[in-house]
Amino acid sequence: MEPGFWHEKWQQQQIGFHQQNINPFLIKFWSQLALAADTQVFVPLCGKSLDMCFLAEQGHQVIGCELNELAVQQFFSDNQLPVQQSKLGEHGLYQTEQISLYQGDIFTLPIETTKDVHAFYDRAALIAWPETMRAKYAKQLAKLLPQGSVGLLVTLDYPLQALSGPPFAVSPTWVEQHLSDDFEIQLLESQDVLADNPRFVNKAVPWLNEAAYLLKRK
Ligand SMILES: C[S@@+](CC[C@H](N)C(=O)[O-])C[C@H]1O[C@@H](n2cnc3c(N)ncnc32)[C@H](O)[C@@H]1O
Repeated sequence: MEPGFWHEKWQQQQIGFHQQNINPFLIKFWSQLALAADTQVFVPLCGKSLDMCFLAEQGHQVIGCELNELAVQQFFSDNQLPVQQSKLGEHGLYQTEQISLYQGDIFTLPIETTKDVHAFYDRAALIAWPETMRAKYAKQLAKLLPQGSVGLLVTLDYPLQALSGPPFAVSPTWVEQHLSDDFEIQLLESQDVLADNPRFVNKAVPWLNEAAYLLKRK
């Protein structure tokens, strides 16, 4: 989507994607990555996700990237975290003890910012892109991740014609076709979450699968 789309969503606080609770797949599967506590974890398109608090609670250093300034500010104010603000080139940098958020476009995020990352967490980032941009985003993610990095990818899939995203449907076939050049891929779980998503129920979407994948950067 164009940046203006997301800026407007944040300005109007139309942020239905934001979860009030930690993502259940994150809680269930994160330990499978078997990471040292002080591992740096990259969270692309992080919004103001509480999942970053979960990652920090595991002892990790969290590095997020988020386009919208209000989202970044709200992350720190909602969670009552003191924040130091600076700049790195065109990106704003907002830091608290274990969490550093780069505010700006992921496509221009300098590669140095993620050079010490060993893990990543993508929830509602891959599925935020329409088909035309999704492969480009996947390549940028791969470019930012050092070889051997492991991560959890959480996607949604539904019949394509049922809804126009975001979130966009991402099938296991798409994941295999577009990510397997850069990542080893293991599907951990896929479950129907239609009943928990009234927006999809109201639009008569027949099924909605949430899937968790374990990825390893080749
Ligand atoms: C669907 S939301 C998901 C947010 C978060 N991952 C979560 O689970 O709540 C997608 C986020 O990506 C941000 N975004 C969109 N395009 C971006 C870009 N080019 N660079 C960085 N962030 C971007 C949007 O502002 C929005 O907050």
